[in-house]
Amino acid sequence: VLRDGDPLEEPRDPPRPPLASGRYEHILVEKRGEQNNVGFIQLNRPKALNALCDGLMREVGQALDSFEADNNVGAIVITGSDRAFAAGADIKEMQNRTFQECYGGNFLAHWNRVSTVKKPVIAAVNGFALGGGCELAMMCDIIYAGEKAQFGQPEILLGTIPGAGGTQRLTRAVGKSLAMEMVLTGDRVSAQEAKQSGLVSKIFPVDQLVSEAVKCGEKIASNSKLVSAMAKEAVNAAFELTLAEGNRLEKRLFHSTFATEDRKEGMTAFVEKRKANFTDS
Ligand SMILES: *[C@@H]1O[C@H](CO)[C@@H](O)[C@H](O)[C@H]1NC(C)=O
Ligand SMILES: *[C@@H]1O[C@H](CO)[C@@H](O)[C@H](O)[C@H]1NC(C)=O
Repeated sequence: VLRDGDPLEEPRDPPRPPLASGRYEHILVEKRGEQNNVGFIQLNRPKALNALCDGLMREVGQALDSFEADNNVGAIVITGSDRAFAAGADIKEMQNRTFQECYGGNFLAHWNRVSTVKKPVIAAVNGFALGGGCELAMMCDIIYAGEKAQFGQPEILLGTIPGAGGTQRLTRAVGKSLAMEMVLTGDRVSAQEAKQSGLVSKIFPVDQLVSEAVKCGEKIASNSKLVSAMAKEAVNAAFELTLAEGNRLEKRLFHSTFATEDRKEGMTAFVEKRKANFTDS
């Protein structure tokens, strides 16, 4: 078991105070939940329906970095406004880009930060999640949708295709036929269709969506952060590995939990019929 001061442990930053939103131009960043342990990122370009410009995605990456380093944060919620989670990438920014610029600069590669965070990330989607907005939601670990949410990959209507994981993550989430139909026609699906097809896990009334997502984040944050990261790694491996390799990885991670204080505390608390007090160690 790694303990504070163990040379193998990565140096940890001291807990940071709540982030000042002033650092960010395109997003609002704060901590929510009774214990202030849910990182909260709200995309905030209302006039552009939260179109995902380069600056916005860089700020999302910075906010995720700081939540990742914050020992008090156990889960992260990303949301937009009631009208739009994000209506797409910023097309004006792309209009005159050349192939050479896209290829040479590995255009959109840094968006991937959302899918590499160790802490669980919940997307709370009200309104439009189109193009890059749908892809951003799919990079998160759990998607909650408001009743009026709409999901779509309309890139084909602009003469291009999804470039931030849309063809891959959508297909894994909803299967080939619906993914093909959405990617080839640009048609949107409603929150209800998204739920039926497995893209989202729950639907809520518009005005309750964000608080329900934060509640889910609080539930996750009350568990061991160390073990949650292992659980997330194991589920994500299902998308990368064969069944045999995935089961092997799961077994190794499962065995690893027996090297933690939190596994001991969790099982002891269960036997003693009390609530576990996890220390993320
Ligand atoms: C892109 O190029 C066209 C044609 O040269 C020009 O009219 C337009 O303003 C440019 N768009 C942007 C966003 O710079
Ligand atoms: C949980 O454990 C920590 C560290 O051992 C301790 O400081 C804290 O008081 C405990 N909390 C509860 C509710 O028992």
